[in-house]
Amino acid sequence: MATEIRPGADLPAVPTRPTIAPTSGRVPAAAPDPAPAARTTKIEARDLNLYYGSFRAVRDVTMDIPANKITAIIGPSGCGKSTFLRAFNRMHELAQGARMEGRILLDGVDIYDRSVDAVDLRRLVGMVFQRPNPFPTMSIYENVSAGLRLGGGHKPTNLDAIVEDCLTRAALWDEVKDHLGDPGTSLSGGQQQRLCIARALAVDPEVILMDEPASALDPIATLRIEELMLELRGSYTIVIVTHNMQQASRVSDQTAFFSMGEDRAGYLVEMGQTATIFTNPREQLTEDYISGRFG
Ligand SMILES: Nc1ncnc2c1ncn2[C@@H]1O[C@H](COP(=O)(O)OP(=O)(O)OP(=O)(O)O)[C@@H](O)[C@H]1O
Ligand SMILES: [Mg+2]
Repeated sequence: MATEIRPGADLPAVPTRPTIAPTSGRVPAAAPDPAPAARTTKIEARDLNLYYGSFRAVRDVTMDIPANKITAIIGPSGCGKSTFLRAFNRMHELAQGARMEGRILLDGVDIYDRSVDAVDLRRLVGMVFQRPNPFPTMSIYENVSAGLRLGGGHKPTNLDAIVEDCLTRAALWDEVKDHLGDPGTSLSGGQQQRLCIARALAVDPEVILMDEPASALDPIATLRIEELMLELRGSYTIVIVTHNMQQASRVSDQTAFFSMGEDRAGYLVEMGQTATIFTNPREQLTEDYISGRFG
């Protein structure tokens, strides 16, 4: 059952599926969705411009991210893919001099509305980074359960079951179940990345952002992450940034291609069904990029 988290309220000890909702007393930027289950669009970016100081890294992007599907973002280095992704859970605002224009709606709610708490939002919109980053002083078990403990104060009674479930869904349980007390950092790179995915799942997110999650991994570990993404699809909305075209075409339902203007601002060239983007793109620029002529 969905729990509404209001800014300033205590977070629940056991993760439920929180929803962000503007508080009463002011006119919300967007009305909360009356029927979230019926939504096919999870995130809407509208006229988004992202800056670092006076430098515009992302220009005028409008995009719909479908619910419970995998959306891939591709494009040459420096075209603002990571910057764009970080705007979805308000991590962009943590960078020095960062600024944003435009809007991002999650289930119809403006995530930059003053009433939305960024910490609540980041529970709903989790992130997996390029380099696996397990908490260095924590065991495998503690890595997965850390978000649950932090969120609530007292630990949930069914912590063991939650940890097992998340490690199972992250396709890691069988490999670690007999040494859950070992340090998270004692695992291989591919296992560490699955541990980070288990950690992200533990707080019961609805969206998972992945920024080149397999680029530091060998081909076998990469395939495991891809299999895992395909298993998670349907239950989570996944947005993945990748430089690996085969990966984008193997895992994603739709693909967005970004490029860079002369002012070095990244912009969306086109977006569509992955099969179409890779076989019959509308734009010559996309064709040139996917066939390896630039980037
Ligand atoms: N914290 C920051 N402060 C200032 N400029 C930044 C910051 N992070 C990124 N940039 C700049 O913003 C632009 C976009 O960077 P971003 O990391 O989003 O690109 P990217 O498409 O993810 O590149 P890559 O494929 O190499 O990861 C670049 O010009 C980069 O130098
Ligand atoms: Mg990047």
